[in-house]
Amino acid sequence: MFNDDVRKKDVKTPTIVREVWHNGEFISWDDARVHVMSHVLHYGSSVFEGIRCYKTRRGPAVFRLREHMQRFLNSAKIYRMTHPWSLEELSDASVQLVARSQIQQCYIRPIMFRSLDEEHPAFGVNPFPNPMACYIGAWDWGKYLGDEAIEQGVDVCVSSWNRLTPNSMPAMAKAGANYMNSQLIKMEAITNGYAEGIALDDRGYVSEGSGENIFLVHEGKVVTPPLASSILPGITRDSVIEICRTLEIPLVESGIQRAALYVADELFFSGTAAEVTPIRSVDRIAVGEGRRGPITERIQKAFFEITSGEREAPGQWLTFVNEHKSVAPQSNGYNAAQAREVRKAATNSSAGETVDAIHVTLTE
Ligand SMILES: Cc1ncc(COP(=O)(O)O)c(C=O)c1O
Repeated sequence: MFNDDVRKKDVKTPTIVREVWHNGEFISWDDARVHVMSHVLHYGSSVFEGIRCYKTRRGPAVFRLREHMQRFLNSAKIYRMTHPWSLEELSDASVQLVARSQIQQCYIRPIMFRSLDEEHPAFGVNPFPNPMACYIGAWDWGKYLGDEAIEQGVDVCVSSWNRLTPNSMPAMAKAGANYMNSQLIKMEAITNGYAEGIALDDRGYVSEGSGENIFLVHEGKVVTPPLASSILPGITRDSVIEICRTLEIPLVESGIQRAALYVADELFFSGTAAEVTPIRSVDRIAVGEGRRGPITERIQKAFFEITSGEREAPGQWLTFVNEHKSVAPQSNGYNAAQAREVRKAATNSSAGETVDAIHVTLTE
C-alpha cells in the first residue's frame, strides 16, 4: 500500500533569503507572487536554473555562475522567450541577492516565465501575447539526496518512465514543464522505497536521474551518456568531465545499456542539488562493493575541494560574492507596456538573447 512517509521526505531548508530579485529590483519574499491565471501555471511556460553558492574562506562563492546563466538564456531562446535581461545583469543580480542576504551558502533559483498582462489578458496556448517575468530567489539547501548519501551512496531504481524524446520536449532546455516527467520518475522511485529513479531514453539507453546526470565507472574508465540520450547538459557533469581530465582519469561520453548499470564497478550522480552522490544499488542489485567506490571518492573529493575554494579549479569557476564588481547596466524593470513592445518583436522573430554556447558537446 501507499506509504504516507514519502510525503515527509524533502530536502532540509534551514534558511530562506527574505528578498527576491524581480525584473530588475529587489522585493520582499512575501511580495513575490503571481496571478493564478498566468500562462505559466496552465501551460508550463517557464525556464529556470539551480545554482549553488558555497561557503569559502573568502566568503560566499557562486559556482559556475556564468555557465548557469548561459544555460538559462539558452533555455529561454529555445522557447522563443524574448526578454531584456542580459547574462551580466542576471549574474550581478544573483551575486547582489547573496550579498544583501549576508548568507554564507545557498541555492540560487532564477526563473523566467510567461505571466499575465492584467490589462490585456490572454488565456490561449499561444504564449506570445503574455509578458515575460523574471525572478531570482535563494535559500540554504541541505543535501538533496539525504545527509548520508554523499558518503554512503543511495539506492535507486530504473524508472518505468522514459526520459523526454528529443523532438517532443527538448531535454537540453531546463524548462519547468520537463519536470512533470521528472516528478513521475521521482514519485515512482520514492513510493517504492528508492531515493531516486534513473530514466532510460526513448531507445532504451540510460539517460539520467530525475534531477541529476549519471556516471558509470568500469575498469578504471568513467562513462557518461551523451547529450543525444536526452539529458540536460549539466554544469556539474561538465565539472566532473574537467575534473577527470585534471586527475587523468579516462572518460568517454557513450550510450549506456541498462544492464551495464548492474555490472558497473561504480556509479554516481552529478547535479547542482545532488553535487557528486554515489549510487550503491540499482533495483536492489549492489553496485560494486555496495558502497562509494575509489574513483567516485577521488572525483567527489576534488569537487568539494574546488567548491570550497581549497583547490584550484580548472577554470574560473567561483565568483566570490564579496569581491564581485557589478558591470551590467540594469534593464530598469520591465513593465506591461515594455512587455507588449517586446512581444511584438517576438512574434516577428525568434529573437532572444544570443549567448555563447555553453561548454558542452552538443552532438554525440
Ligand atoms: C534533469 C536534470 N538533469 C541533470 C541535472 C544536473 O544539472 P546541473 O549539474 O547543471 O545542476 C539537473 C539539475 O539541474 C536536472 O534537473
